[in-house]
Amino acid sequence: MSSLRQKSAPRWTAVFLLCAVLCCLFVPAVTVKHENFKKCDQSGFCKRNRQFADDVSASSSWTAPYALDPTSITFEKGQLNGVVLKILKEGEEKARLPLTVTFLDSGVARVTLDEEKRAKGEIDLRHDSKARKERYNEAGKWALVGGLKVFEGAALNAEAEQGYTKVVYGKGGKHQAVIRHAPFGIEFQRDGETQVKFNERGFLNVEHWRAKVEKVEEEKKEGEEEKVEDEKKEDATGEDESTWWEESFGGNTDSKPRGPEAVALDISFPGYEHVFGIPEHATRLSLKTTKGGDNAYDEPYRLYNADVFEYEMDSPMTLYGAIPFMQAHRKGSTVGVFWLNAAETWIDITKKKNTANPLALGVKGHTDTQTHWMSESGLLDIFVFLGPTPQDLTRQYGELTGFTAMPQSFAIAYHQCRWNYVTDDDVKDVDRRFDKFNIPYDVIWLDIEYTQEKKYFTWDPLTFVNPETMQKQLAKRDRKLVPIIDPHIKNTDNYPVIDELKKKDLAVKNKDGNQYEGWCWPGSSMWVDCFNPAAIDWWKGLFKYDKFKGSAPNTFIWNDMNEPSVFNGPETTMPKDNLHHGNWEHRDVHNINGMTFHNATYQALTERKKGELRRPFVLTRAFYSGSQRSAAMWTGDNQAEWAHLEASLPMVLNQGISGFPFSGADVGGFFGNPSKELLTRWYQAGIYYPFFRGHAHIDTRRREPYIPGSPYTEIITQALRLRYQLLPAWYTAFHEASTTGAPIIRPNFYIHPEDDNGFAIDDQLYIGSTGLLAKPVTKEGADSVSVYIADDQPYYDYFDYTSYRGAGHHTVPAPLEKIPLLMQGGHIIPRRDRPRRSSGLMKFDPFTLVVVLDKAGDAEGTLYLDDGETFDYQQGAFIHRQFSFDGARQVLSSANLDIGHRTVKCEKYLKTMEKVRVEKIIIVGAPKAWKNKEEVVVLEEGQKETRRKKSLPLEYHAAEGKKAAWAVVRDPGVWIGRGWRIDFGDKVAGHEHHGHEH
Ligand code: GLC
Repeated sequence: MSSLRQKSAPRWTAVFLLCAVLCCLFVPAVTVKHENFKKCDQSGFCKRNRQFADDVSASSSWTAPYALDPTSITFEKGQLNGVVLKILKEGEEKARLPLTVTFLDSGVARVTLDEEKRAKGEIDLRHDSKARKERYNEAGKWALVGGLKVFEGAALNAEAEQGYTKVVYGKGGKHQAVIRHAPFGIEFQRDGETQVKFNERGFLNVEHWRAKVEKVEEEKKEGEEEKVEDEKKEDATGEDESTWWEESFGGNTDSKPRGPEAVALDISFPGYEHVFGIPEHATRLSLKTTKGGDNAYDEPYRLYNADVFEYEMDSPMTLYGAIPFMQAHRKGSTVGVFWLNAAETWIDITKKKNTANPLALGVKGHTDTQTHWMSESGLLDIFVFLGPTPQDLTRQYGELTGFTAMPQSFAIAYHQCRWNYVTDDDVKDVDRRFDKFNIPYDVIWLDIEYTQEKKYFTWDPLTFVNPETMQKQLAKRDRKLVPIIDPHIKNTDNYPVIDELKKKDLAVKNKDGNQYEGWCWPGSSMWVDCFNPAAIDWWKGLFKYDKFKGSAPNTFIWNDMNEPSVFNGPETTMPKDNLHHGNWEHRDVHNINGMTFHNATYQALTERKKGELRRPFVLTRAFYSGSQRSAAMWTGDNQAEWAHLEASLPMVLNQGISGFPFSGADVGGFFGNPSKELLTRWYQAGIYYPFFRGHAHIDTRRREPYIPGSPYTEIITQALRLRYQLLPAWYTAFHEASTTGAPIIRPNFYIHPEDDNGFAIDDQLYIGSTGLLAKPVTKEGADSVSVYIADDQPYYDYFDYTSYRGAGHHTVPAPLEKIPLLMQGGHIIPRRDRPRRSSGLMKFDPFTLVVVLDKAGDAEGTLYLDDGETFDYQQGAFIHRQFSFDGARQVLSSANLDIGHRTVKCEKYLKTMEKVRVEKIIIVGAPKAWKNKEEVVVLEEGQKETRRKKSLPLEYHAAEGKKAAWAVVRDPGVWIGRGWRIDFGDKVAGHEHHGHEH
């Protein structure tokens, strides 16, 4: 615009017009096409159940038609069985719904409700459908891997009132399920207090099977089709039948051979104001209400994996993945539910404020959160978690669905992607430039254009002439290549992959049982059906080096479009009446589909070559509960806009508490061209995504970190270096996630579950258990951020040790070159300070330990290390240390956290790490008394007789203004894998310390 202003005597109208035109050009006119995706009232079962809920709420005389038949109840070995009867017509017909309530060892309860008629196959399908008759009952087969041990100590409470059955369960009998027979409902109590209620509001609805009573329809006049579809048609019982049978949307008709079969239930969390979870949505961590309330959405949250082009911010719309796990949190308690159902699901959230009763002293006002879950088909199958801590929830959910797979170490370093690096020379050039600019990176990616005409497992012969040499160049610096392989297989001639898929009959079928054909990147395509074990076997074979020619040991895989994305399908996905292996309808398994695919790819990568077993790396876009066992995810096609940068933080935090923490967003934004400032800020935020990848759409300008130039390139490089410096802390956080289910980046409530004021905070994060607290800048032009501190520990600026103290908001400077990062007192942070070009080159680098003292003068931290590549860590080949600084004794020590794991593999690994030492110790918040202290004494545990002991100088830096005092010990030379102690106290001379190492 400035050039315009310089012109003499501008004609204002012309300038205005030009501006208007330019604005149109620059303001990205991108917004999701709402008409392509269903709203609740366009999805028959959602509309029916929401209406049902409204009717029930509006009626004063209504009673729920579900009753547990008391004569059917049996209880044995931690499991209650019975039959819930659904009264169909006054007093007469009843649908029998077998109920199982299982009490698990972990203190979790599982409630399952099936439908007898369908289970027994005593129903008729319409349209001669080949689909299965049962309600889908295999979600657990894909999602669950453990945690199902039954708690045999569960017992009936003999004192239950008439009309109730009560079961005491959980360790120490702390939990109780109070089952009301009529109307059927359950309350889950912990220590006598109700935490979770099923069917409190009477929204339970299991749509029982019924035959369609065919009516002679009047001949429709042309063009009246839609209208007739919409008209209210009532069946014999007076129910509105209009959405029971065929349903049409966007020109596709779903034949619904089983008629209506939804399951729905209301679940309340009394006294809980916040609920989190149920990713994936572009929304806040603390979920907004969907039916009234402040700032509410007007649609329920939807879970129906979909390729939502140009998705919008602040929306309950569905996205690429689904995890139906919700947690409710209040001061001192976290509880939750896992709704194990893979069909299209909608969830309404409302909050009920209960004001304080002025007459009842001590009775405080509180808020209840009420939810309403609706799924199109399948079983009602729900796990109930009673906490009481957020850590209990993530652990128990992880025991059921699996913990995050421990990735290779390269996978948590920086990934460079774009659609597309266009030739093998291009890749080599980008690789060289990173080196030229001294910018670290580990992985370069290839998008769909590398293939010959979108045929996966091939290379374009004109542009990727020599993939082997390309990968060899990458391997020189221990770098990797990740090409994309999608689930759609091009339906074309002379392509052995499609020939085999067809011949072996391994593709998803259409409703008539023929191989389904749809449209995706390659044009006409078919989809491998990874629900089929034979398809998985076949898929595995395709990745062998002699099959996927040109792939190498440093090739890993990106699985995209696995919702599945079908360009000409309803809502850009597959028709619901398509059939999968075992004749399950796509409707039943939709949300699991993507997971079966990336699981298969994961398995394939373990079997590429005999004797070459390394941890696979697979990135997926679609996901479900359990995906964390075999993949990383990213948040799909975001935009190069500040709002998208901002939204990425709550989204990634939410992934973390929902059991799938290996997640990130496209750094820089996928669509559009970020300003240099936005790009820089995005890198400064992206270093905190557990999965950290820059990616861009094919129409965007190049934006590799070396492109923007000074000072941006230098600032981005500093950000990348910070990620690399802290890789030991990140790797330790991944280890924790993979053994306890804890998130890798953690929201405030997870670390400070007692701090009411911080429950909704989702724009800052803690890295693992390191006490590192980051608040990325997500606003244009910002030069400071406001960091919320929840406790009264000292916090220190990571770079200059400025101290911040006191619960509340603190302004932290954040000019462009500054990354706001604080260290909470009480932690010891492991780092590797030597700048390298890739993480692989840091493998044997020495460590720096940053000891950040808390208000009592103590600190603690852990370090987990292994070969970063193989599965040997499962046989003990790792180093796991606990570092402690004891303020009273003034001793810093390193102890083994895994005493007794000394296996052969472990010894072998320790040998490779023998030369790896601690090269520097920094103590932040160092005591004043050290001012005149000149040395510390180092004692290292080796062979008992040869204990080494030496004195080293201590460098002390006094506090200056707001900057805390700090001290440094250089080159203590202690081994990272062994026990040692460093004595900072006065009385060290002649005092023998007895270590208890190993
Ligand atoms: C999808 C992916 C995107 C990728 C593109 C081409 O839009 O989300 O990351 O670049 O497909 O493969």
